[in-house]
Amino acid sequence: MSIYSRGNLLRGLLLGFAFLSQTFPAEGRFLQDDEKQPSGEALFKKVWKSNEIESTDSGDGLGPMFNAISCVACHNQGGMGGSGDNITNVQILTVLPRQDSRRNFRLDRVALEMLFEQSAKLHPDFKFKNSTILHRSSSEIAQYGNWLKDVFEFKSVAKTTGFESNRTMIEERGRLLSETPIYRVKKGSAKDRFTIQISRRNTPSLFGVGIIDSISSNDILALESAQKKKDGPVKGIAPITNDGKIGKFGWRGEKSSVAEFTSQACAVELGLSNADHPQARMPFSKSPQSGKQSHDISKSEIKKLVEFVNSLEPKPAKLPETGNESQLLQKGQEFFNFIGCAECHVQTVGIAQNIYSDFLLHDMGSELADASHSIERKVHSFYGGREEVEFEIKNPQRWQTPPLWGAALSAPYMHDGRADSFHDAIIVHGGEASTSVEKYRRLSPADRKMVLEFLQSLGQESTLDEKSNPAAHGWGPPPRKSRKGRLVRN
Ligand code: HEC
Ligand code: HEC
Repeated sequence: MSIYSRGNLLRGLLLGFAFLSQTFPAEGRFLQDDEKQPSGEALFKKVWKSNEIESTDSGDGLGPMFNAISCVACHNQGGMGGSGDNITNVQILTVLPRQDSRRNFRLDRVALEMLFEQSAKLHPDFKFKNSTILHRSSSEIAQYGNWLKDVFEFKSVAKTTGFESNRTMIEERGRLLSETPIYRVKKGSAKDRFTIQISRRNTPSLFGVGIIDSISSNDILALESAQKKKDGPVKGIAPITNDGKIGKFGWRGEKSSVAEFTSQACAVELGLSNADHPQARMPFSKSPQSGKQSHDISKSEIKKLVEFVNSLEPKPAKLPETGNESQLLQKGQEFFNFIGCAECHVQTVGIAQNIYSDFLLHDMGSELADASHSIERKVHSFYGGREEVEFEIKNPQRWQTPPLWGAALSAPYMHDGRADSFHDAIIVHGGEASTSVEKYRRLSPADRKMVLEFLQSLGQESTLDEKSNPAAHGWGPPPRKSRKGRLVRN
């Protein structure tokens, strides 16, 4: 018998929340006066409460579904706005059609129609897409608890990567990543026609996102066509958002601006409905969305929050202290280029210096696959009431190359936080990056170490000189002192 009772499952899910709610209490008193609205920084730190009506458009505050009670509860490593540890990972619930005898998912029309019809009974969001957020908590705690108990039970506690589907351990790692309870979904097993997976998204750092926001789409499209023309396995695709823009944010590049991501984060992570994004739905409620038109956070507050997030500067590069160190870092960079890391982790993209990304989606192989948000059901209505249903299927192996500036401060790594170190992150690369990783494996231990040291040092270049020069904050011309893209302190 499992050592975990149902009650413990609920505790497990809510335990994370208890942690998230303890970190970083808001500092100082909150200004309630309309004329003195809180600053963007105060809003980022603000601890939101349910049924709170203050300085907002008179909504119901936090929730009903939420993952944490402030932005900073998740974004805090290396300072306010940083990345988050695995405890802050966002969990995603995904339904997939049953597998056939060859363990392929059946993606034919009948299977897909059945999938959406049946899984919508589990969660209203499954009417149109195959994934939704599995929130850590709800202001309707009793009802949410009952829903969770109805859907899940713990199977066992195992040393795993946290994913039932990721059974293969990378041999070189030689140790297992974490002790994670494996969930078993009661629904979706034998009697239903779908299976369910839980996947995770690692909280990225927000340092420097303002610079990323200003990268021109043409600079990204130019990298896409350069890779297309070049021989070899690396062929990235520019992410296109639902509204036809180039996506630069999120592990799959789903959003094109910090503003869009912020209004989504308010709604999805904290349950703060706003003019640009509805809050998450309660899975246990049959009624569509609460009829309330009021918002939990106003347009002007979101604007301030966006300004604050955009102002978070990238972390400075770790500059070499001695000539010897400087030589080792340069060699590390040479290996990084030579073994093909720089094909995707491009040093400079338009105005963004030393960012080490191409912002393209790459097929990273089956090991990193995650089927969340891979199937969408689109209903097109025509004049006269005729409707046509179309299914859109996306490649679950594609991820956007993450920037590597400041990465020393943002462990754990990869979209689900499965890698604790740079070495672990590198060896789980597959697909288009396989050749490059093979070359990394063949480096001598001393040469590998230089690559890893080089990764540790990455950040925006900054010296006293440049700090006093406002044009050196990423939006201006390139810093004068750079030699081979790196600054060397004399
Ligand atoms: C529960 C943890 C959590 C909370 C709370 C949270 N975030 Fe995030 N944030 C994430 C995760 C996880 C991602 C990556 C999501 C993805 O790619 O699907 C992310 C991504 C982002 C991004 C995009 C960064 C990039 O480079 O791709 C922005 C901007 C952002 N969050 C802002 C905010 C703001 C503003 C708040 C508060 C309103 C907030 N977040 C609250 C976990 C959190
Ligand atoms: C084909 C493109 C490609 C190549 C080549 C490549 N990477 Fe990556 N890299 C990615 C993508 C995409 C991710 C994110 C994948 C994920 O999260 O599942 C990533 C993630 C990383 C991360 C983790 C960053 C984070 O914030 O989580 C590190 C570190 C990294 N790569 C270093 C390297 C090094 C070193 C090399 C050379 C040995 C390399 N990469 C080669 C595309 C590439």
